Amino acid sequence: MNPVLQTIREAGRAPISPYGPIAREMAEVENILAETVRNDHSGVAEVVGHVSHYKGKRLRPALLLLTAKACGQLTPKHPVLAAVIELIHTATLVHDDVLDNASTRRHVATANARWGNHNSVLLGDYLFTHAFYLATTLGDIQACQIIGAATNRVCEGELWQGLERGNLSLTESEYLDLIDAKTAELIACSSRLGAVYSGAPANIVAAIERYGRLIGMAFQIADDLLDIVGEERTTGKSLGTDLEQQKMTLPLIRLLSAAPEPRRSVVEQILNAPGNHKREALAPYLAESDAVDYARQKALEFAARARAELACLPHSSSRSILEAAADGVVNRNS
Ligand code: IPE
Ligand code: IPE
Ligand code: MG
Ligand code: MG
Repeated sequence: MNPVLQTIREAGRAPISPYGPIAREMAEVENILAETVRNDHSGVAEVVGHVSHYKGKRLRPALLLLTAKACGQLTPKHPVLAAVIELIHTATLVHDDVLDNASTRRHVATANARWGNHNSVLLGDYLFTHAFYLATTLGDIQACQIIGAATNRVCEGELWQGLERGNLSLTESEYLDLIDAKTAELIACSSRLGAVYSGAPANIVAAIERYGRLIGMAFQIADDLLDIVGEERTTGKSLGTDLEQQKMTLPLIRLLSAAPEPRRSVVEQILNAPGNHKREALAPYLAESDAVDYARQKALEFAARARAELACLPHSSSRSILEAAADGVVNRNS
């Protein structure tokens, strides 16, 4: 695994970790999450408990804490805000897996695979509402406004994506706007919260928010590449779902736009066909095209722009991790 994501993950796992300057606060985030997802009703507890052994990379809380530390002081509000963001992220994944009919997430069965779509919609709602309740415990209206606005835009992005299913004419610029909403927004929000609550001045907050948005863009392009050429064994989630759900992503947009006829028509037929063997069918066409390299290059461009935004911060170990994380979100296999 990429060393930066490894550092972030280990910082999240160990109570007192030698890795990273945010180990103690990440452990606190874990405690808050464990406390928040507890439920007394045994049936509900089982479903809700699913998300506690349903642990991902913890990228967003780690970024929130690292941006805070890179900008100034970590405060008691930061771990709470980081837990709120992770709860919202997890809620979006629970709902996303219903929408994508996915069977595996974070190396285990999805909630929809275990308890069906109805219960998973409610589990997602449970996590969203817990997140918003937890945010209010800070007694700080600004945090609620920032988090509410960002979550609303994530939902808008997912809705927009659903409405574009099967639209093989989706342009690169529309795709970039869409992933800005569904993915980059929450990562930008994490970075912004980190900076705002460390007392950073407005110009630094704006730069750090741009950093988060740009790595969010790089992150989703890399994710879209994994959906087409990644391995389920390493990602721990169902792949090929973008193809199955007829979601146009950057490598596919490039593949179609650069393919000469009659290859373009064949690729269109594959994308329009029912069933879930499209990865295999597309592989030879992808291999002959520059689509994977093109998308990867775009992701690296976003990562480079993200790194440049950090120039306004003083040098520190947190800033170095944030710099490395920019490329880390592209060069990953999970
Ligand atoms: C998955 O996010 C959803 C996307 C925005 C691509 P992550 O890859 O951060 O998911 P976890 O939290 O590690 O499972
Ligand atoms: C990201 O899109 C979903 C959210 C922002 C919730 P994907 O559908 O590509 O995410 P994965 O691949 O299922 O994790
Ligand atoms: Mg999905
Ligand atoms: Mg994906």
